[in-house]
Amino acid sequence: MCGIVGYIGSQEAVPFLLDGLERLEYRGYDSAGLSVIDGEGLKVRKIKGRLEGLKNLMLEEPISAHVGIGHTRWATHGAPTVPNAHPHLNQNGTISVIHNGIIENYMKIKEWLIQEKGYEFKSETDTEVIAHLIDFYYDGDILKAVNRAVEIMEGTYALGVICQFEPDKIVAVRKDSPLIVGLGEDANFIASDIPALLKYTRNIYLIENGETVLLTKDKVTIWDEKGAEVKRDVYQVTWDIDSAEKEGFEHFTLKEIFEQPKAIRNTLFPRLDKNNDIILDGIKLTKEDIEVFDRVYIVACGTAYHAGLVGRFAIERFAGIPVSVEVASEFRYRDPFIDDKTLFIAVSQSGETLDTLAALREAKRKGARILSIVNVVGSSVTRESHDVLYTWAGPEIGVASTKAYTTQLIAFYLIALYMARLTGKMPENQYHQILDELKGIDKKVEAVLKKADVCKAMAMLQKDNTSVFFMGRGVDVETSFEGSLKYKEISYINSVAIAAGELKHGTIALIEEGTLVMALATQERLFDKMCSNMLEVKARGARVVAIAQEGRTEIEKYASEVFYIPRTMDELAPILSIIPLQLLAYYVSAARGNDVDKPRNLAKSVTVE
Ligand code: F6R
Repeated sequence: MCGIVGYIGSQEAVPFLLDGLERLEYRGYDSAGLSVIDGEGLKVRKIKGRLEGLKNLMLEEPISAHVGIGHTRWATHGAPTVPNAHPHLNQNGTISVIHNGIIENYMKIKEWLIQEKGYEFKSETDTEVIAHLIDFYYDGDILKAVNRAVEIMEGTYALGVICQFEPDKIVAVRKDSPLIVGLGEDANFIASDIPALLKYTRNIYLIENGETVLLTKDKVTIWDEKGAEVKRDVYQVTWDIDSAEKEGFEHFTLKEIFEQPKAIRNTLFPRLDKNNDIILDGIKLTKEDIEVFDRVYIVACGTAYHAGLVGRFAIERFAGIPVSVEVASEFRYRDPFIDDKTLFIAVSQSGETLDTLAALREAKRKGARILSIVNVVGSSVTRESHDVLYTWAGPEIGVASTKAYTTQLIAFYLIALYMARLTGKMPENQYHQILDELKGIDKKVEAVLKKADVCKAMAMLQKDNTSVFFMGRGVDVETSFEGSLKYKEISYINSVAIAAGELKHGTIALIEEGTLVMALATQERLFDKMCSNMLEVKARGARVVAIAQEGRTEIEKYASEVFYIPRTMDELAPILSIIPLQLLAYYVSAARGNDVDKPRNLAKSVTVE
């Protein structure tokens, strides 16, 4: 959680800090703050709540400065209040610190600083400990003091530090929280993520774990954990700032839903040659490697976990390899069987989700081969994986994951087909048949999006509901989980997803007159059974809204409304059936006046356990 930015250069620092923070607000928005050094010394401004408040404060109390750091917070230690907002200062207000991450041993350090050294604390945060610790070690060299403090700290952090006595420097450090450096003309920057810098530079250094960076206006120096200077290649950002803006859509979430055909094309087509051979850049798995695996785990959180459920279905169905899908936060605490015959697939949009990263590290430690499906280039998950398949969905700003999900599905279909072919598990004609259908799926997604108004009309009938049930059979169960998560996280309406066959084992007790049930019935071979389940709830008064493949009009006997998706193979239906559910969740949320892009209590990148 949390976004950090920093500027040192010949221009005004505050406009950059505010602009950069705006682009990082998706990382957390409980409070915001900045500090700069002007002719008089170090100054701080912070507020509780959205960045808008900080912008207003800067208008009321402007500061002109050429060096500064800024922070947008998602509360972990301590409530979202002004004292807990970053930056945090040392006692005499000469050193300022911004932090993304968690200092696990902060209580121990805090007690030591209070009892032995007489420091006084103003906040409940772990970050304030860092400011005092740096102060304790400071003897005129801020870089040295930060390095000494970092030796004591356990946990995760991306830090930005400035000191009134050395106004020509920013010191930054990274351990397990994202940090990048931007290289400008007469200016250098730090940030948690690329969109914060795009307006100012496309030349980036991706900072690795354990590295310390010293920025001046004209120079950036990086040292590794052992103190050796590092020569880093410049990473050139090729995507455009427009792709990180709303482009006329009311919300990023809606824009990103509509970007799915393009995101799918970008993820799929560069991986296919003219003979339909799949070329997975970044994946070095051979036939022999695959044949050695006796276990495959797919591990992820939230929406990425739901993509993993579809991934399991694809790998088992296409490649005939048994797969377990696990929630990352639970995975490492149940001592899973892992050895060098294990393939571990991590799925993550951000590549920074701490639970996923921790599970990956545990699997790696025990000898597993690590393959990751990730959207953010150069993120932590990718750097710790043996094989990486990027989803190339572009930046996803809306907190609710949409285009990342559908591109994760594409990545899984590619991996499953690749494995199936390499190991000879799938007849050639079937391989080509599936791939040909996959190659046309972007057009079918476009056709679904053309009917967005149908979803909008459905949403108007649903916006005042207090609960909704999602149900399906076969791989429609996985889509039900994702549809339900989208619905609850942005509409704030209580939502439950269930395998339709499970309904009568308990949950059906909740069905009464008018209960809203979303029924996914896209699986041809389970269609009749699904109709029976719809009948069961309809008979108890439920208002059933169905998703079915075109032509299956008999479903209208069981549902009061139906959304038809274009005909496709059962196996690929999850790519199409999630689209109306994303749209529905979006329109319900917008109709209720919710903050669709930044739902309450959520953050885009969950870098705490
Ligand atoms: C829901 C959502 C979250 C994320 C989850 C994992 O819409 O976005 O459930 O999918 O926090 O995040 P990543 O994919 O970045 O690891």
